[in-house]
Amino acid sequence: MILLLPITLVLFSLGPFFHTRVAHAGSVNYGNPCSTANQRLQIGTYQFSGDCNSVTFCNSSGLCDHKGCRRDEFPFGYNDPANMPDRCKSGLFCPDEEDACQPLLAVGSPCQFNRDDECEAPPNFKELADHSGFGLNANGSVCLNNVCMWANVTVGNTCIVENTGYIVYSGTNETVDIVSRGNCVVGLYCDSQQKVCMQQKNLNEDCDADKECSSYNCLANGKCGKPANVPKHVGSWVYVVVGICIFGGMVATLIGLYWMHRGHRSAEREKRMQYWREQNAFRQNIMQMQESARHSLMSLGASGQGSPRSTLYGREGVQSEDSQMPMLGATSKSSALRHQFSDDGFDASDESLVVKRSDRSDIKF
Ligand SMILES: *[C@@H]1O[C@H](CO)[C@@H](O)[C@H](O)[C@H]1NC(C)=O
Ligand SMILES: *[C@@H]1O[C@H](CO)[C@@H](O)[C@H](O)[C@H]1NC(C)=O
Ligand SMILES: *[C@@H]1O[C@H](CO)[C@@H](O)[C@H](O)[C@H]1NC(C)=O
Ligand SMILES: *[C@@H]1O[C@H](CO)[C@@H](O)[C@H](O)[C@H]1NC(C)=O
Repeated sequence: MILLLPITLVLFSLGPFFHTRVAHAGSVNYGNPCSTANQRLQIGTYQFSGDCNSVTFCNSSGLCDHKGCRRDEFPFGYNDPANMPDRCKSGLFCPDEEDACQPLLAVGSPCQFNRDDECEAPPNFKELADHSGFGLNANGSVCLNNVCMWANVTVGNTCIVENTGYIVYSGTNETVDIVSRGNCVVGLYCDSQQKVCMQQKNLNEDCDADKECSSYNCLANGKCGKPANVPKHVGSWVYVVVGICIFGGMVATLIGLYWMHRGHRSAEREKRMQYWREQNAFRQNIMQMQESARHSLMSLGASGQGSPRSTLYGREGVQSEDSQMPMLGATSKSSALRHQFSDDGFDASDESLVVKRSDRSDIKF
């Protein structure tokens, strides 16, 4: 939301700009009157514009009619692709008006501004065609000053040049960007003063215009620079450093977690040990108490054999002997437990007790 707000504000502020600068179509709908006299290229952008809306053109009857061809793969204004007119086949072109496909124009014929693709290709189009991506010609032909010609002029020969000033916006500043085109073969440029084809310059050579550089990028310091579209390459050491940082971060995380868990584990173990020691001491106490109780009972029994008390409690003496049996059994059992404990240092029943306790502590902490 916080991020969307400025973007929305920017779009709103740019809205009128786009509306006036980008919308190349008029507002007259299908079947309504229009005038071909209003068709023109817009100042600064050289975009074709007329009275009719983006899906119609002004036909010879002075009415807006459905377009007969399209120049773009995805033309503006069509909601349903099924309604879009077809693109022109090879050997035909779709003019700016997009009324109907027309056959390619021969050398010397009038063509529309910057529409190299309207002109017929030279026989040697394979060697003249431009594959640089800078749009120097279309299949070896070029439309200069609204005349179809071939881009076949070699070095030192007279050439034709067309300079066009485009309006460029940089923030609120409005400047002119001059694009100079000629009919020299690829790799040469048409000098505007001498009107002859010259060899393009290599990197770091002096230049006055972009066209003079083979990279089409004349820097502000008057030297040919790298092409403006080359991707920025970083040194291999950057990859190494980034790799080390990633790997180091992973290892550091693992070590940190290991140390954290180790501390936690030893604290848990210490708690358990302490509990075990307490329980053990408690058990020793109980056993000592039991031992001393037995001793006192035994000494009582030994002294009672010759004492008048045994004769006094003759019947009960037998009873007390019976009642002593489970008591003895209990003591022998406990002593067995103690033996087991002293042998292993740990007792099964003790362990279960500890586990129970630790379970509880786990829930608690
Ligand atoms: C011009 O367009 C209208 C539809 O808007 C159409 O009826 C008319 O036939 C068209 N004229 C020509 C000469 O194609
Ligand atoms: C270039 O022109 C030739 C000859 O007219 C034509 O066969 C070929 O298809 C064209 N190539 C392109 C990419 O337009
Ligand atoms: C170069 O192209 C022009 C048309 O622009 C043509 O008249 C001329 O014959 C061509 N020259 C060569 C050598 O192909
Ligand atoms: C606009 O032009 C002025 C003066 O030429 C310049 O100082 C400023 O940096 C330019 N602003 C932008 C956004 O290009």
